[in-house]
Amino acid sequence: MTSDTKDGLIERLNGRTAVIGIVGLGYVGLPLARRYLEAGYPVRGLDVDARKPEALLAGRSYIEHIDAGYFAEAARSGKFDATTDYARAAECDAVVLCVPTPLNDHREPDLSYVVGSVEQVVPHMRAGMVLSLESTTYPGTTEEELRPRLEAAGFAVGEDVFLVYSPEREDPGNPDFSTRAIPKVCGGSTESCLEVGLALYGGVIDQVIPVSSTRAAEMTKILENSYRAVNIALVNELKLVAERMGIDIFEVIRAAATKPFGFKPFFPGPGLGGHCIPIDPFYLTWKAREYGIATKFIELAGEVNTTMPDYVVARVAEALNTHGRPVKGSKVLVLGIAYKKNVDDMRESPSVALIEKLRDRGAEVSYADPHVPVFPKMRRHHFDLKSRELTAESLAGVDCVVVATDHDRFDWDLIGRHARLLVDARGRFTPEGTRVWRA
Ligand SMILES: NC(=O)c1ccc[n+]([C@@H]2O[C@H](COP(=O)([O-])OP(=O)(O)OC[C@H]3O[C@@H](n4cnc5c(N)ncnc54)[C@H](O)[C@@H]3O)[C@@H](O)[C@H]2O)c1
Repeated sequence: MTSDTKDGLIERLNGRTAVIGIVGLGYVGLPLARRYLEAGYPVRGLDVDARKPEALLAGRSYIEHIDAGYFAEAARSGKFDATTDYARAAECDAVVLCVPTPLNDHREPDLSYVVGSVEQVVPHMRAGMVLSLESTTYPGTTEEELRPRLEAAGFAVGEDVFLVYSPEREDPGNPDFSTRAIPKVCGGSTESCLEVGLALYGGVIDQVIPVSSTRAAEMTKILENSYRAVNIALVNELKLVAERMGIDIFEVIRAAATKPFGFKPFFPGPGLGGHCIPIDPFYLTWKAREYGIATKFIELAGEVNTTMPDYVVARVAEALNTHGRPVKGSKVLVLGIAYKKNVDDMRESPSVALIEKLRDRGAEVSYADPHVPVFPKMRRHHFDLKSRELTAESLAGVDCVVVATDHDRFDWDLIGRHARLLVDARGRFTPEGTRVWRA
């Protein structure tokens, strides 16, 4: 009976008849849902935010780089449906959780979305289903939070239902790597679970990398993101040293990157942003305390990265001062408020801290961002601002232009020619007298 349950599920997964349920239709869930559809699987999308299923079925996109028309068409052909109704999880053979894992106000893991979604899915599960968690989290989450909830519902994990953890590696807005081409790590709660996990992802991802446990898979993701956080902090710190020494840090990093082994370039910026790098490493920090270990590198990287907006503000003040102007009353135009280039994602964007700090000092701040036409309402910040059009007049009409995010859609030539004073946190411009500054 047991191996029939597993074999039947694997057969449906391999045959692409298994119905795939994606819970959380955001930056991670949507590309994955699309990938399953492209590979021929029937897909059901589930989100607590009713606007998302509605928008997808109507062909309206709510993430800039994702074409919702594709989902509307798949819905018309009966391959796709989206809903807020968890009872529809019963139609699925696999349920993949792609819900948020933020930090709470005390900078501790907030697993309420993961736990909430599991508790809503489990009552609709039956034998022969697989549950996969993709949200980034600390090692132990799958075994400590998901497995007991399945067992409490009477399931034998690895026998009648299967449980895996497989971290998402989406890089939104990066056209070089599609969901299919990014190798995917997968760990199972048991050996049978891993076998099912490999079938779940093997149909849509070119290379699936099995690891020995869900904890190893969870830790893999945290290592990847901590590696980025620490290396970005390192170049952010070296940027300050290079600046004082009159050395161009971007030139140095590009030169170092010619070394064909043992070096990977990371570039400094106005701080760290996005839903992952500033947050995920602290999931480990929190869990490590349980084992009596302090994650000093992670803490230090967080400290260095979060002070970067202060450095940019100090450089703006210094630049304005050179031109005989105080920050107070100066018109400052911030270019780019998304956290990284070519996306519309504002989560944890350092531009928000930058705008807030400049405004606190009395500057009249405006912004331009072709990807974010209106400053969105955020939980902790609100600015009644709309993106300004960049023209020779709008650029020359402000006291200082700050480059915070270097979107390709900006007209860099126009910016370079018409800004009266430029403070550049992305290394787009070469420093020039008292007009172009690095920050
Ligand atoms: N964005 C990225 O680039 C990225 C990359 C790798 C990993 N991750 C990880 O993936 C996870 C999801 O991130 P994201 O960027 O897609 O988040 P997101 O906010 O874009 O999407 C999450 C979705 O889940 C929905 N949701 C919340 N609670 C729910 C519930 N109980 N039931 C159903 N739906 C629910 C939200 O309405 C939202 O649509 C996080 O753990 C994140 O760390 C994100």
